[in-house]
Amino acid sequence: MREIKNPREMYLYSLKAKSHGKRVGFVPTMGALHEGHLSLVEEAKKKSDIVVVSIFVNPIQFAPNEDFTGYPRNTGRDKKLLKNFAIDVLFLPPADKLFPDGFKTFVEVDVLSKKMCGRSRPAHFRGVATIVTKLFNIVNPDVAFFGEKDYQQQLIIRQMAADLNFPIEVVSLPTVREFDGLAMSSRNAYLNQKERKSAAILYKALSLAQREIQSGERDVNKLLFRLRSLIGSEPVVRLDYLLAADPRTLQEVKSIKGKVLFALAAYIGKTRLIDNLVVEAE
Ligand code: PAF
Repeated sequence: MREIKNPREMYLYSLKAKSHGKRVGFVPTMGALHEGHLSLVEEAKKKSDIVVVSIFVNPIQFAPNEDFTGYPRNTGRDKKLLKNFAIDVLFLPPADKLFPDGFKTFVEVDVLSKKMCGRSRPAHFRGVATIVTKLFNIVNPDVAFFGEKDYQQQLIIRQMAADLNFPIEVVSLPTVREFDGLAMSSRNAYLNQKERKSAAILYKALSLAQREIQSGERDVNKLLFRLRSLIGSEPVVRLDYLLAADPRTLQEVKSIKGKVLFALAAYIGKTRLIDNLVVEAE
């Protein structure tokens, strides 16, 4: 596993690999790796000749009141985990190389970025789209891998890749869950024991939607009311949003037809977690 810090060196490495006909797979991360990330790395290994993983905690996707400073960082542990997968390159760009003084250019994916998490995190997706654009330009992959836990993010990146003519296949993979259904997330590390136990209610609620739809419920208001009541049974959980939407446009829906995305964000104590489930009515 070669470690590269310099964006120019990363760019030339990838260019050379591609000139030799190699297919480059890319897994961008912010580190604090868990099984969700590792499932992306595993798929990247299957679908590419060269696998590049980046670790960069991107300052511009955090608002000033958010957890940029406290975000879990353990590159030593991450490197050990990645060594088991024999990836080709770990790209670790320093912040001042990506965002030098005077940086002024941002990428904004309209409409999709304003919905769901965009309502309470208005600059978040502009930060994500900008860093992913930069990483795409530097790594120049043929295929890039994202987790469906960040459903809105992968949709925005697909839109951005299409709109900006990136010749990159965007692959998204299913959410990896803990034993009780909690979606794996680097932020789960913030939860104390009690909060961790309560956090399982989020996936329970999404699964309730699935069961109710399978039993024939089609009224979104009734479904959301039942889900909210269930989540309300855990006093440490405070919903930021819970909604049902079209999985392609994120437009909210009132009744269940075909595939519907149930998505939520909730504070468990001070920790904000997200989760989602795409449910299909027969
Ligand atoms: O999903 C993440 O870890 C980040 O948002 C990403 C895509 C690496 C951009 O910083």
